[in-house]
Amino acid sequence: MTRKTIPLAGVIGQPIAHSLSPRLHGYWLRQHRVAGHYVPLEVSHRDFEQVLRTLPKMGFVGVNVTLPHKEAALKLADSVSDIAAIIGAANTLTFRKSGRIHADNTDGEGFMANLRTAVPGWKPDTQTVLVLGAGGASRAVVATLVRARTPRILLANRTRARAEDLAEEFGRRVQVVDWHAVPEAIGEADTIVNTTSLGMVGKPEMKLDLTRLRAGQVVNDLVYNPVETRLLAEARRAGAIAVDGLGMLIHQAIPGFEAWFNRRPVPDEGLRAHLLEALA
Ligand code: ATR
Repeated sequence: MTRKTIPLAGVIGQPIAHSLSPRLHGYWLRQHRVAGHYVPLEVSHRDFEQVLRTLPKMGFVGVNVTLPHKEAALKLADSVSDIAAIIGAANTLTFRKSGRIHADNTDGEGFMANLRTAVPGWKPDTQTVLVLGAGGASRAVVATLVRARTPRILLANRTRARAEDLAEEFGRRVQVVDWHAVPEAIGEADTIVNTTSLGMVGKPEMKLDLTRLRAGQVVNDLVYNPVETRLLAEARRAGAIAVDGLGMLIHQAIPGFEAWFNRRPVPDEGLRAHLLEALA
């Protein structure tokens, strides 16, 4: 008789207690009746490599990685997807039967899938997209937009030099806009994406002048706590289409769940409600 093993997955980070990923994957495990578990794993930078090498021996089929391990995960992997290499960070690791570790980054895919789902007909290749922020999340968004042939990406960051570094790396379709010129750039953009932490609980509010927001625009905030940020509220008031960050969180999790548990989940309202309950 062959013994069935219970597949394990999780999210490694520090801190990790507030991660919504265990709740998210737990919902799908129950929904698909998979006899597996997804757990939060609080691991320091010092212990990360040792833990990573040990997990496959304990029945883990893969993990998500979050701060501060996203770059280290990429370096330790045996194989890396093209987009993870371009972004320079991994968020999804799959442990192969051979013992090899495969690294992927699904943040950009999640960003794009969320927009396509929330805004039917949304096309990245005919747009001017304004991206606020030049950190890790921005890298994933900009890399994905460049790959999707977005003709014009306006990139603004409080620290201008970081935006210039990104623009240099991703080519001439990325144009740096001064942080003080964001109010005017809002008027020029078809889609606006906030990748900064402004508006997140415990962080400063976004105080930018948002008066040029208008109907027909798409405004996506990657911040999901709170789910309705000032940026999204102002977008709605102006008649623009507001797309919240919870959708991206859900969509970036799909490829990992599918790779580990062989089922492809479809986001539903029940999952959103389940996550919103934890945020409330
Ligand atoms: P993440 O991986 O989530 O993108 P990050 O790399 O720390 O996190 O980037 C945070 C982003 O939020 C940066 O673009 C940061 O701007 P700086 O590069 O100038 O630090 C932006 N950010 C954070 N606090 C901000 C504030 N008070 N005003 C404007 N931008 C801010």
